[in-house]
Amino acid sequence: MEVQNTNTTMPRIGDFAPDFEAITTKGKIKLSDFAKDRWIVMFSHPADFTPVCTTEMSGFAIRKPEFDALNTELLGLSIDSIHAHLGWVDNVRKNTGVYFDFPIIADIDMKVSKLYGMLQPNESETAAVRAVFFIDPAKKIRLIMYYPLNVGRNMNEILRALEALQTSDKHKVAMPLDWKRGDKVIVPPPKTLKEMEARILDDSCEKIDFYLAKKELEEIVG
Ligand code: BEZ
Repeated sequence: MEVQNTNTTMPRIGDFAPDFEAITTKGKIKLSDFAKDRWIVMFSHPADFTPVCTTEMSGFAIRKPEFDALNTELLGLSIDSIHAHLGWVDNVRKNTGVYFDFPIIADIDMKVSKLYGMLQPNESETAAVRAVFFIDPAKKIRLIMYYPLNVGRNMNEILRALEALQTSDKHKVAMPLDWKRGDKVIVPPPKTLKEMEARILDDSCEKIDFYLAKKELEEIVG
């Protein structure tokens, strides 16, 4: 069968996160009611009681203290009922001792998954893809990841990207390839000839050339 490209409007990086109300495992929530000084990592999974999703959700649960340390709320979602969510949380806790102690949206009417482009019909018409939305305290979407149904995400990369965004904001710098905490950061390149001449004479940073300069950070986020 020929694949027809979908043409759905999806939120993009830099957009304000569309507001919604939803039923979750921690009760009713409204995105705009989340604390104004917190980041939110909202992620979807295709289905409860499935193997890859169980490993991923367990990963979020086990690494939750690291999200807490980065001032970040976790918010899960799938197109399953609240009863399925509760049964799965209980089942995983009984089997492995891991407890999903964050809200998981029961998006049974697909309202939120459609709003966020998590339903990608050429991948699945009934299950959300593995999406991750990084939402900053101003409720702006800052980074989006989409993974297909058959490939689990990388928790190290999710945490690394979150810390990179926060460090970039705090210090007005950019993050090079594979940046991780403690590595040098990129000093924004000059935008005028005057700034370029100043950078050429500036010995305070490690310069490959005037447009590629790195420096150490004295402190990290937190
Ligand atoms: C899984 O989590 O294992 C899975 C879920 C939906 C489709 C394929 C795999």
